[in-house]
Amino acid sequence: MAYVVGLDIGSTKVCCLAIELTASGSLRVVGHGIAPCKGVRRGTVEDIDETVRAVRVAKEAAETMAGFAIDSAYVGVTGEHILSTNSKGAIAISNVTREITEGDKNRAMQTAKQVVLPPDREILHAIPRHYTVDGHKGVANPVNMAASRLEIEAHIVTAGSAFLRNARRCAERAGIAPAELVLEPLAASMAVLTPEEKEAGVALIDIGGGTADVAVFHDGSIFGTGVVPVGAHHVTKDIYMMFRTASIEEAERLKLQSGCALIDLVGEDEVASYEEMSSNAKRSIPKKLLTEVIQARMEEILELARDEIRKSVRNGAPAGGIVLTGGGSLLKGTVELARKIMNDLPVRASGPSVALDGYGDRARHPGLSTAVGLALYGASKLRPEEAVVEVRDGALAKMWSKAASAFKGWKED
Ligand SMILES: Nc1ncnc2c1ncn2[C@@H]1O[C@H](COP(=O)(O)OP(=O)(O)OP(=O)(O)O)[C@@H](O)[C@H]1O
Ligand SMILES: [Mg+2]
Repeated sequence: MAYVVGLDIGSTKVCCLAIELTASGSLRVVGHGIAPCKGVRRGTVEDIDETVRAVRVAKEAAETMAGFAIDSAYVGVTGEHILSTNSKGAIAISNVTREITEGDKNRAMQTAKQVVLPPDREILHAIPRHYTVDGHKGVANPVNMAASRLEIEAHIVTAGSAFLRNARRCAERAGIAPAELVLEPLAASMAVLTPEEKEAGVALIDIGGGTADVAVFHDGSIFGTGVVPVGAHHVTKDIYMMFRTASIEEAERLKLQSGCALIDLVGEDEVASYEEMSSNAKRSIPKKLLTEVIQARMEEILELARDEIRKSVRNGAPAGGIVLTGGGSLLKGTVELARKIMNDLPVRASGPSVALDGYGDRARHPGLSTAVGLALYGASKLRPEEAVVEVRDGALAKMWSKAASAFKGWKED
């Protein structure tokens, strides 16, 4: 059986998702496991032992369901250490036929990759955006074209080596060899965004527990990536501090049950109740008061995300609008607040856009976008001849071929 595994080591939970691939192109979830994790802060591993424990729990749950051992996975990474830039490179085509080969494409990419890198950083992704062949711009694939000069524009994502080492170590100590480390918003974009949105220009904001990750697409390809080191768990911590709830769990419960990101959506007479710190007595407060605290933090997150988007798109206004995902996007009023902050751009919230066979509606949860995207990324790297023949679901076949074409040419070297 050919299968790929996505391992999302998130700030609130680890998710391990094993997907079976078939020659017909269908995809089916054969194993999944989710384990709460407190070892990751703001997207980066801070407690290796706790993170390894959570990875093991998620992995074992996925293995029990799948009935086979999981030994490798596509592992997500994010955090403030991630930086990205668009870089250009150019080469002369010197072979006798003057026909561009795969080798020329790789040589062009090598020149684009010559960005100045401090010793503690490394290139995580070098993604071709488009090529220019003898001055003719916007070529998607120049192979076999006759030319004397090939130029490339590439999106280069770099990361702190120590952070990557820690992510690798957590997977390895739990018995999983990382097939590749993948930037989380890139993975999530595979699961959530449509090709039409990417063509028009779109920004994805994945509001997780510890970070809000941003990916901007333009003309069908990735143009910008950024990481905001604040997420939805900071909202929970604010509630805990401001209202002195009995515990952080009680603050989370209050947020999930009564939380709203926009004060306009809350009535004057609405109340929320919770257990107070020390006494554990029940207390009631106006929901407007709770919303004020939540809105302040959600505004901060979305404004910082807008700043990241503005680095790539003038006025922060991609024509295809904004797509929110991640568990934090489920908070009531978040889409409405985002519309305000993004100057009335179209905003939608979504999880993975296609239901995976064998996983039901759970696969649509926005908290799973990264895990599903990591598995899709892995699926796009597998050669079809390694897949087994089996037809299950036409919709999945479509997604798998979409995934494969979206990631064609993503290999750096
Ligand atoms: N129904 C809901 N309403 C409001 N918030 C929610 C809901 N479900 C989940 N959340 C919030 O989403 C956050 C977790 O999101 P997610 O699972 O995407 O994070 P993560 O992947 O673990 O973290 P990160 O991506 O930052 O590393 C938590 O703060 C949680 O409170
Ligand atoms: Mg996440």
